[in-house]
Amino acid sequence: MNSQNPKNEINRRKFLQNTVKFAAAGMYLGIFGMPELFGNVLIENDAVNIPDIKLNNGLKMPMLGFGTYGLSGEVCQRSVADAIAAGYRLIDTAKIYGNEEAVGSAIKQSGIDRKQLFVTSKLWVDDAGYENAKKGFEETLRKLGLDYLDLYLIHRPRGDVKGSWKAMEELYKAGKIKAIGISNFDPEQLKDLLSYAKIKPVINQIETHAYFQQGNDFKVLKNHNIQMEAWAPFAEGRNGLFTNEVLTQIAKKHGKTVAQVNLRWHFQRGIVAIPRSSQKAHILENLNIFNFTLDPTEMKAIEKLDLNRTQFPEWS
Ligand SMILES: NC(=O)c1ccc[n+]([C@@H]2O[C@H](COP(=O)([O-])OP(=O)(O)OC[C@H]3O[C@@H](n4cnc5c(N)ncnc54)[C@H](OP(=O)(O)O)[C@@H]3O)[C@@H](O)[C@H]2O)c1
Repeated sequence: MNSQNPKNEINRRKFLQNTVKFAAAGMYLGIFGMPELFGNVLIENDAVNIPDIKLNNGLKMPMLGFGTYGLSGEVCQRSVADAIAAGYRLIDTAKIYGNEEAVGSAIKQSGIDRKQLFVTSKLWVDDAGYENAKKGFEETLRKLGLDYLDLYLIHRPRGDVKGSWKAMEELYKAGKIKAIGISNFDPEQLKDLLSYAKIKPVINQIETHAYFQQGNDFKVLKNHNIQMEAWAPFAEGRNGLFTNEVLTQIAKKHGKTVAQVNLRWHFQRGIVAIPRSSQKAHILENLNIFNFTLDPTEMKAIEKLDLNRTQFPEWS
């Protein structure tokens, strides 16, 4: 029967291969003893195939990554190791998170070929300016234990942004960074940067979630062919995001969780998301978003949740 239907045979083989992969990942992650989760992951095994997007400099980047804000020391190292073992390849850190060493240790221990990973870090405001930015970058690289970064971002548009950008352009040209970008720039600040930049940023990483959808920035970035990346894709659960009625109903319909619906919504908008979790179960759950689709009515219903204001006023 299989020889008459090679596609079935290929699918069956792919399923068995993935089953073995997940059994191994399950053993590593210690999720046996959680049959409902393991069953869930085992069936929905396409979760590890994270699609890439091509940035405006041709570099490929995973559409879903792992955030590390607020994780430190052993918890950070374990969470990043769990994330890499589960299949995440994009890891987002920053000097100000104080965890670059822990992230670096997890990367080293993962045994994953460096080329398979996409490591992002960020230049903090204290290191703004040409000379300081170069020093800040070297310190980041040393702490991570790496010899290049995939993506380096100006964390916030503060201080001598022009000098920082010049330093980053040079580091990019020298091959020390595969792509350079920005974070927390509004359209005016982006316009200013573009007025002198010799190299266009590939990314703007900004607060984006169902309560703050950033429609205008989305359009502006698209027009400039700059990829939008969502920080706090769950709004850190603020304002009851994980129990929101509309999201809960949509999740129920798909047999998914609210977290998965949120991440799927970012993905369908074409936005890279970097959820953070310190729990293995959530780390796995958040990967498992590539086997269902939100229909236009559901996308519209989520669009209506927009409050069009930050959920992090303390950072503004
Ligand atoms: N560029 C910037 O200025 C900037 C600012 C903020 C953040 N970021 C980056 O963006 C990343 C993500 O943002 P974030 O860490 O602030 O917040 P987030 O990813 O929106 O939310 C993290 C929170 O969600 C919980 N969570 C994760 N998965 C869950 C699930 N499946 N079900 C229920 N709860 C879940 C986590 O708790 P558990 O640990 O219990 O799972 C944690 O409390 C950061 O880690 C950082 O890398 C960048």
